Amino acid sequence: MKELIILQNEEVITLGIETSCDETAASIIKGSRKILSNIISTQIPLHQKFGGVVPEIASRKHILNIMPVIDEAVKKAELELKDINQIAVTYGPGLVGALLVGVSAAKTLAYALDVPIIAVNHLEGHIFANFLSHIELEPPFLSLIVSGGHTAIIKMNDYNDFEMLGQTRDDAAGEAFDKIARVMGLPYPGGPEIDKLAKLGNPDAIEFPIAKIDNYDFSFSGLKSAVLNYLNSAKMKGEEINNADVAASFQKAVINALVDKTIHAAKESNFDKIVLAGGVAANSALESILRNKCESQGLNFYYPSKILCTDNAAMIACRGFYKALTKKFANDRLNAVPGLGLLA
Ligand code: KG4
Ligand code: ZN
Repeated sequence: MKELIILQNEEVITLGIETSCDETAASIIKGSRKILSNIISTQIPLHQKFGGVVPEIASRKHILNIMPVIDEAVKKAELELKDINQIAVTYGPGLVGALLVGVSAAKTLAYALDVPIIAVNHLEGHIFANFLSHIELEPPFLSLIVSGGHTAIIKMNDYNDFEMLGQTRDDAAGEAFDKIARVMGLPYPGGPEIDKLAKLGNPDAIEFPIAKIDNYDFSFSGLKSAVLNYLNSAKMKGEEINNADVAASFQKAVINALVDKTIHAAKESNFDKIVLAGGVAANSALESILRNKCESQGLNFYYPSKILCTDNAAMIACRGFYKALTKKFANDRLNAVPGLGLLA
């Protein structure tokens, strides 16, 4: 039945729009999983000199970028605007001013083209990036979402049936990477920088503690303080700091917490597939450690191609496609919801 629904819809053209943070992105997909174009205009260089995303600057840049990026996505797909059948747009979570640009563009275009709008939850989009990278992948599976704003273990029972098993109580994993990188003087975003530096260091050099929580929640603020204390006390004592060892040891602590809980959750819930999602999924050590752990435990492991790990609009279009099958469309009253939680 599931396959039938998908096959009947394989001709549908979906435009995806994503502006939740510092990437202005538009993508066209055909049917459920065929990417015709995936345009991402990143603002990272613009925010780098401030050490992080400046919301007001992000919104203004999205306004300048949004229509050229959509035009480019349509052109690259070798289509015209009139060929679009539906528009999927991120409406939360994210920066309110940034989200509003995408939502307004989607509503305007949907009105002009007389096509439906699908309101997409950004976190759900990250999970759906995996369907674009692995066309054979089907729910049910367990997903670990690790991004700049969120860290969560999600049960995905079906395309439109999610359940949160646990999430971070304080910092998200990506946020911890970015904050530690910042105090180490590395550029924004810090995750990829720590990833690179950690390859040169010894992950067993420093024992950083990680919070022990009984359920599937995470906490990274204690680890962050431990790294900050280590750096400050070494500085005060005039001791030389091996930044590569700090990066590798910090990264190991984060990864251990993520991997252990995810494997445990999969076993307890009887899932045999684990799906990694979100910007931190681009971390090479996380990917390889989780993959090895899954293999040794007889679990199948999936993660998206690098370009689909971080924010993009193809994942939003894909999520929109499956949500549209439930006929849950938005209308011209759609608004940005910056604190949006996980929905079903
Ligand atoms: O999913 P994403 O693009 O945006 C949000 O929805 O938050 O994730 C961005 C986060 C940033 O914190 C960035 O530092 C982190 O993903 N990140 C990484 C790597 N690449 C991106 N963290 C660790 N290692 C990486 N290679
Ligand atoms: Zn994201």
